[in-house]
Amino acid sequence: MLRVVVCVSGGGTNLQAILDCAANGTLPGVEIVRVIANNPGVYALERAKAAGVEGLCISPKEFGTREEFNDALLAAVSEAQPDLIVLAGFLVAIPPRMVAAYPNRIINIHPSLIPSFCGKGYYGLKVHEAALARGVKVSGATVHFVDEGMDSGPIILQRAVAVQDGDTPQSLQRRIMEEAEWQILPEAIRLIAQGRVQVGTDRTTRITERQAQ
Ligand code: GRF
Repeated sequence: MLRVVVCVSGGGTNLQAILDCAANGTLPGVEIVRVIANNPGVYALERAKAAGVEGLCISPKEFGTREEFNDALLAAVSEAQPDLIVLAGFLVAIPPRMVAAYPNRIINIHPSLIPSFCGKGYYGLKVHEAALARGVKVSGATVHFVDEGMDSGPIILQRAVAVQDGDTPQSLQRRIMEEAEWQILPEAIRLIAQGRVQVGTDRTTRITERQAQ
């Protein structure tokens, strides 16, 4: 069983996509064991509760220093003994100690085709505002492993979504969530659970064929 901890900061629609797949049997061998939010009262925690998954909040506001928050976050994650940590709309810089403790075992969903519109300052609607301002005809989403950088780890899956005339940042965000994020994040977890994602020394990934059962 692949034990998964999901970290969230907001509405939790990506978490919901994972929970739905776990509930409908399309994520065999995967158990969501804990949901961790960095803000109290986010709807993602309601989604976890409705699915019977333990949810807790580790808020930076509860700690005197960033280091104390980082310690508490890492403790809350490791206490759940995860095999995989999924950042699903999690707007917290992952402490280097946590990246080092879980090499190629933390994945993130980013709402663009990395390396476009990613890195410092590119999150939420800002990503789509930048894409529309640049006039790209295609955007999409990326699932990647988390390394010590921001949105810079090995890419696992990507899915393209056409930009439509008249798109607003909101309409583009919604379409990318529906057509890309909510599909490729569960798929990446599925592939990892099946042991089919290999990271090369060149920090690119290869998806291997399904082993005959
Ligand atoms: C989504 O656009 C996701 O790509 C980004 O955060 C936004 C909110 O995600 N990382 P969610 O609804 O909280 O899953």
